[in-house]
Amino acid sequence: MDIVQKEQKKQVIFSGMQPTGFLTLGNYIGALKNWIGLQDQYHCLYCIVDLHSLTVRQDPANLRKRSREVLMQYIAAGLDPEKNIIFYQSHVPAHSELSWILSCFTYMGELNRMTQFKEKAQKNESNVNAGLFTYPVLMAADILLYQTDLVPVGEDQKQHLEIARDIATRFNNIYGDVFTIPEGYIPKVGARIMSLQDPTKKMSKSDENENGYIRILDEPNRIMNKIKRAVTDSKGQICYSDEQPGIKNLLDIYCSLREESVESAVDHFQSKGYGDLKKEVGETIVEALRPIQEKFQELEKNKDYIDQIIKDNGDKANALAQRTLRKVQKKVGFPPRV
Ligand code: TRP
Repeated sequence: MDIVQKEQKKQVIFSGMQPTGFLTLGNYIGALKNWIGLQDQYHCLYCIVDLHSLTVRQDPANLRKRSREVLMQYIAAGLDPEKNIIFYQSHVPAHSELSWILSCFTYMGELNRMTQFKEKAQKNESNVNAGLFTYPVLMAADILLYQTDLVPVGEDQKQHLEIARDIATRFNNIYGDVFTIPEGYIPKVGARIMSLQDPTKKMSKSDENENGYIRILDEPNRIMNKIKRAVTDSKGQICYSDEQPGIKNLLDIYCSLREESVESAVDHFQSKGYGDLKKEVGETIVEALRPIQEKFQELEKNKDYIDQIIKDNGDKANALAQRTLRKVQKKVGFPPRV
């Protein structure tokens, strides 16, 4: 590749999301909303990681339904399926194939150190399966298959990205430059949205308390009710401070969705009470999600269109993944296909 081509080559961004539970306002503000701004500048792949979901027991019909819903919500939120490759992990067999090979270049000791494995094993004592243990290897395969440059990850996935880099480096040291070494991507904007019921914890789709999170697909009155119930404090003053995590979270939501600065929001609410704040935050969320929900309903009716996207994007992902997989297979010494 000459210098000009190299400069023109867009960097690859890869991210994965498990199709369990519902996408939340936290997913929208913390991830999706930012991704829309990346679609022209980067070559982006968004993978619905259904293989990873199997590490915990799933109801088959539910898993199928959720997977499709995630894909439709991505598109409804503004990810253009022509510009981004949005696909199911299970439609690209190379993920499993590369994962096996990489598992032979990963040490038990490394996997044993993964804090997420320890946490999940503790939570699922009755089902500590081998997939849960090798989860980071499959994630490394996801990333490395597409010669990914950047991976947008939250705090909880940093250790997994680190092991992906270690595996890639180890492999490259033996076989030459096969994999691009991925880096974490920290978006310039975008707040971390916290649980409405415990604003010291991240808003999570797996929260047992439904009032802790807002779904992208929640109806308006449900949104208003959840915000009304959001935990605040007894200070009675609207400031943006770590001492008032509940209020801070509501302001973060308000500012991110309106693309307004914290100073101007604090100014706006200066002489107002918590009730006013909640009402305006609720209305802001309803308005921000309305177009996404309308688009989602439209897409739901358009079965053929979605099926076509799934097929086309799956084909594109397969073609890219095959290039890396073939190279790896050749390097390790598997016999050529005639
Ligand atoms: N483990 C990630 C999570 O739970 C999901 C994931 C799977 C992922 N493969 C990935 C994220 C590759 C980024 C890149 O959030």
